[in-house]
Amino acid sequence: MIEIAPRLLTWYRQNKRFLPWRDHPDPYAVWVSEIMLQQTRVDTVIPYFERWFAKFPTIKALADAEEQEILNLWEGLGYYSRARNLHKAAKILVESSLSLGERAEGEGKLPEDSAALQKLPGIGRYTAAAISSMAFGQDAAALDGNIRRVYARIFNIADVLGTTNAEKIFWDLAEENIPSGEAGDYNQALMDLGALICTPRNPSCGECPVKELCQAKKLGIQDERPVRKAKKTVPHYLHAAALIVEEGKVLLAQRPEKGLLGGMWEFPNGRVNGDPAGELVSVIDKGYQLKVQIVDPLGEVDHAYTHFKIKEVAFRCTLIRSSHKENLRWVALNKLDDYPMGKVDRMIAGKLQ
Ligand code: ADE
Repeated sequence: MIEIAPRLLTWYRQNKRFLPWRDHPDPYAVWVSEIMLQQTRVDTVIPYFERWFAKFPTIKALADAEEQEILNLWEGLGYYSRARNLHKAAKILVESSLSLGERAEGEGKLPEDSAALQKLPGIGRYTAAAISSMAFGQDAAALDGNIRRVYARIFNIADVLGTTNAEKIFWDLAEENIPSGEAGDYNQALMDLGALICTPRNPSCGECPVKELCQAKKLGIQDERPVRKAKKTVPHYLHAAALIVEEGKVLLAQRPEKGLLGGMWEFPNGRVNGDPAGELVSVIDKGYQLKVQIVDPLGEVDHAYTHFKIKEVAFRCTLIRSSHKENLRWVALNKLDDYPMGKVDRMIAGKLQ
């Protein structure tokens, strides 16, 4: 059998992308980059990664930070539980290094092996393997979306992505093909091959270092691998939002810790059936115990999340009667940037300012 690893490693050493966390001696940098790169493109991540390291250069600095500061820095990257989990994990690492009475007391250090890493919040099988192979040189097999696509083509895997069968096949392939002592570079070679050559559409097979070994190429079915599940149609929700302004300040509500955009800020809003202007007053009363009156329409914003789409229609309002709920805060219009928000609310804030 001709192995794929030696060819991929040779190709990687000549063609790898320059990425700020690569060849970085600090496992913390590898960890942060891997979390940022989940569901997010490399080009998007780089400026966030640089700002993150300027602000939270060590695990200790991250553990000591305020959650709002962290969410503010993360704003725009999406999937905000990733940021909250990084924070939680940093606190756990600092705590455990305190109780171990380590040399560098309370600094926080990542464990080296995959099983221990997976005990930390936000670190699953892929991320644990990525950190332990890239930062600690361990022989751990990593498997992400790009790597699944590469294996699906090289080995002509016809099982549908995401099924138990397919997952077993992909993880077995990932483990069987690891070159001992070089897993970090090998995993990243697969990632770069997936990003630069073995792309989802129109792969550049002519330039591929494993083209002679690729079964999908031999059969001319690169475009049919991997096999994806049929896409579900996503629901489309309509929301109405109240921009309650008084004396240069606007009322913001903080979302609950758990769930979508947890801990972030938004304008009081709620789902409506079809008539945002007609239903606004009652959804704001139900959701926030605030009695409002519409002044005028401010505009609308569309956004697509992973599992649904939303249109939010915003209205300038006045407050007739208020509750004193803890999750509500009056914020000066020129201070809105200090409050972490999702895309929809940030766009509406832009319209208001
Ligand atoms: N995607 C996730 N981690 C990566 C890495 N280390 N290099 C390239 N792409 C990646």
